[in-house]
Parts: sequence; structure tokens; C-alpha cells
Amino acid sequence: MSKLLVTGMAGFIGSHVAEAWSHHGEVVGLDDLSTGDRANLEGIDAELIEGSILDPDALAHAMEGVDAVVHLAARPSVPRSIADPEASHEANATGTLRVLEAARANGRDPYVVVASSSSVYGANPELPKHEQMMPMPMSPYAVSKLATEQYTLAWQYSYGMSTLAFRFFNVFGPRQAPGHAYAAVIPVFVDAALRHEPLTVHGDGLQSRDFTYVGTVASVLVDAALRRVSHPQPVNLAFGTRTTLLDVIGLIGAEIGDDLRVVHVESRTGDVRHSQADNTVLRSLFPDAQPVPLADGLRDTIMWLHQRQAVS
Ligand SMILES: NC(=O)c1ccc[n+]([C@@H]2O[C@H](COP(=O)([O-])OP(=O)(O)OC[C@H]3O[C@@H](n4cnc5c(N)ncnc54)[C@H](O)[C@@H]3O)[C@@H](O)[C@H]2O)c1
Repeated sequence: MSKLLVTGMAGFIGSHVAEAWSHHGEVVGLDDLSTGDRANLEGIDAELIEGSILDPDALAHAMEGVDAVVHLAARPSVPRSIADPEASHEANATGTLRVLEAARANGRDPYVVVASSSSVYGANPELPKHEQMMPMPMSPYAVSKLATEQYTLAWQYSYGMSTLAFRFFNVFGPRQAPGHAYAAVIPVFVDAALRHEPLTVHGDGLQSRDFTYVGTVASVLVDAALRRVSHPQPVNLAFGTRTTLLDVIGLIGAEIGDDLRVVHVESRTGDVRHSQADNTVLRSLFPDAQPVPLADGLRDTIMWLHQRQAVS
């Protein structure tokens, strides 16, 4: 039975990966709880070590007996990185380097899959985004994610490690929390809609995203680790859909059965206008991946936030 380490396991995506892997084998997590929450792991059979990926001792301990690593720990969010670029570099670039070095030292030749981001495409307007495109990062976060993926791929050549670097697009679903300054757009919209408050849209709302349900992302990550899928270039992890924020609001309104009020405010610095993945490489490596449709994922997200509001 193989053992998986999930860095950032108490976070949104990490908790879903832990849950999915717990059906296959042992899972241990390392998380400093900076944006994560122990509550995300309630009912999941996983051991959480509280500590930072920047701490080599904590990492060496977490890495003991591990056969595969899903590295998700990071300081997420573009605006957060604009507020404090060095902290994002430290957690995302230096942090990844430490994780790779700890994996290399564990003596079991562990497989490592990491989370990069569609934000690396940045100012390059070409659509859909394919992996051969020139990255044009527009924020410190995007630069740090470019470092995350490129370090991970370089370790294939330098040390013969089996690695994979995914570019996540806009992941959404249960356990993605609203109510903080750097929250993602879907939980913020759903939370406001359930409270019958107006939805705040930055810009005209016609900016588009390739939204990916978290359960889909977790199952692809688990499949990658089980089969040790390695690739010499980054791989988009999204399914080529393109939905505007106004369309998302329409779907949420239809599900809740309410006409939602929208307030437009100024656009955000560093925000990308359109994002949509070319998924040719993903499809070739993961031909069995079945994405959960947006409307179904939104229904789960609304249910989770509804229950969360009811208990708070
Ligand atoms: N959610 C998305 O749409 C999206 C899109 C692109 C990329 N990503 C990437 O996916 C990964 C997971 O994102 P998420 O949405 O689950 O965010 P999240 O904030 O919920 O999870 C990140 C986790 O990492 C932990 N962490 C942060 N710094 C750490 C450190 N130094 N040591 C140990 N743990 C640390 C946090 O406490 C948190 O639990 C991140 O690498 C993020 O950059 C996410």
C-alpha cells in the first residue's frame, strides 16, 4: 500500500486529495495552517503534521516512508502576492525547492506532482491557452508559480526524478471559503447570493474563466500519483470550457431560484481578461478523466455553503 504526502493538505484542494487518496492508501499532510483549516479534514482518514514546507526538519519528518507527493502548499492569490511579493516567492518558489530536495533525500524515489497556475500565461492574449505558449506573468504570484513548475520539471533532468507539473485553472467547490480578502470568486458570489446581498463584480463581468470542479482535480491528481504519470512540460488541468462571470451568476441564480443583484466595481490589478485551457496534453495523459459539469459542481458548492451558513 503506497503512502502519499500532501503538502497544503488542510487547504481547499489538499483536503479533497486527502479524501480521494484515503480510499487507496495511507495519507499524511504537512500544513502550516496559514490559509488552511483543520476543519477541512474532519471525517477524513489522514494524519496532519502542522509545520512549514520551508522547515527542512518538518519536511524530512513528513517525507518518511512516502512513495508519492502532491505538492499544493503555497501562498495562493494574485492580490496577496502584489501586497507582499517576497512572502509569495518564499512559500511558492523556495518552498517548492525544499519539497523537491526533501523528496530526493527520502530514499524511496518518490513521485512528485505539483500545482502551477494558469496565471503564468498572464498577458499573452492567445486563446485557448496551450502549454507551448510564451508565459507572460503579470504578478509576483504568477512568477512564483512559474518557478514552482520549472523547478519540478528540471528535477527530471538533473536528478532523474519522476515529476509532473499541472497548471490549474479556476478550481471551485466545497471547502473553498468565502469571507476573506483574497477569496475566490465563486464562493464569494454564492455566499452573497444565499444571504440575498448584491454580488460585487470587478469590471464588466464579461471576463471568462475555465472553471474546474475540485473533485475532478483531486481525481486527476490521485490518478497521476497512482500511475506515476511524468511529462517533460507543464500540463493544463482544465477541460477547455469558457464561462463569463455573468454566466456563472446566471447559473447560481437559476439554482437558488432568485434574481441576483449585481454591483460593478473597478477591475483588479493583475487580473487576466480571458482564460481557457487547451486540454490536448491532459487528454493524452489522462484519457479517462471525466470532468464534473459546472452546473453540477455549483449545486454541490451551494449546498456546502448553505450548510456552512446554517451552522455559523
Ligand atoms: N484554487 C485555485 O483555483 C488554484 C488555481 C491555480 C493554482 N492553485 C494552486 O493550488 C494549490 C492549492 O490551492 P488551494 O486553492 O487549495 O489554496 P489553499 O489556500 O486552500 O491551500 C494552500 C494550503 O497551503 C498551506 N500552506 C501555505 N503556506 C505553507 C507553508 N509554508 N507550509 C505548509 N503549508 C502551507 C495553507 O495553510 C493551505 O492549507 C496552491 O499551490 C495554489 O497556488 C489553485
